[in-house]
Amino acid sequence: MITGERVRLRGVEKEDVGKFVLWLNDPEVTQHLLMYWPLTNAQEEKWFEDLKNLEPAAQPLAIEVKTEQGWQLVGNCSYHHLDWRNRSGEVGIFIGDKNFWGQGYGREAMNLLLQFGFNRLNLNRVYLQVFETNPRAIRAYEHAGFVQEGRLRQDIFLNGRYIDVLVMGLLRVEWEAKQA
Ligand SMILES: CC(C)(COP(=O)(O)OP(=O)(O)OC[C@H]1O[C@@H](n2cnc3c(N)ncnc32)[C@H](O)[C@@H]1OP(=O)(O)O)[C@@H](O)C(=O)NCCC(=O)NCCS
Repeated sequence: MITGERVRLRGVEKEDVGKFVLWLNDPEVTQHLLMYWPLTNAQEEKWFEDLKNLEPAAQPLAIEVKTEQGWQLVGNCSYHHLDWRNRSGEVGIFIGDKNFWGQGYGREAMNLLLQFGFNRLNLNRVYLQVFETNPRAIRAYEHAGFVQEGRLRQDIFLNGRYIDVLVMGLLRVEWEAKQA
């Protein structure tokens, strides 16, 4: 468990899968993700079963927010493309419950994920890809310290047109300077 003030990250449980299916079928959510097909419970259950083949550091983490009713599942995040020689990893994040958008939870979850990446996994660079059409995410990542490193022109076909994808990165030295 990685616990912050209002957000905590924990391992994903089989019981979480139903909510993920619900959220990953919401066009308002998936317009920002690589997911473009109607997702079934069976597909998501297979995704969950296949997690056992991933190394521990690449396991997805459920994002929970502290509410008056207790900790509530709102989304998930993870490291992938972990490169142990060059000490880099890519992060992905989504908050599927739209009631929790735009209240700083994404930024806080990302900060916890970065803490885990730099302090526990000993990464030197964390990067991500974000659609140019997702200003909320870009802003949240800038708050966490990410800077734009590149632009993949017309990389993704979304809603009938090609859009650019931004590559954003954060170095350990930059992250440490931000903590000081
Ligand atoms: C991206 C995501 C994780 C961000 O989390 P969040 O909790 O909504 O974001 P935060 O509240 O931490 O930060 C959002 C920032 O963007 C700003 N923002 C919100 N909507 C905006 C818009 N349309 N244009 C510009 N800025 C916007 C907010 O005001 C806030 O900035 P501020 O703190 O300076 O006011 C979450 O919205 C999400 O999962 N969305 C759906 C899936 C997705 O986009 N995943 C990321 C794929 S790369």
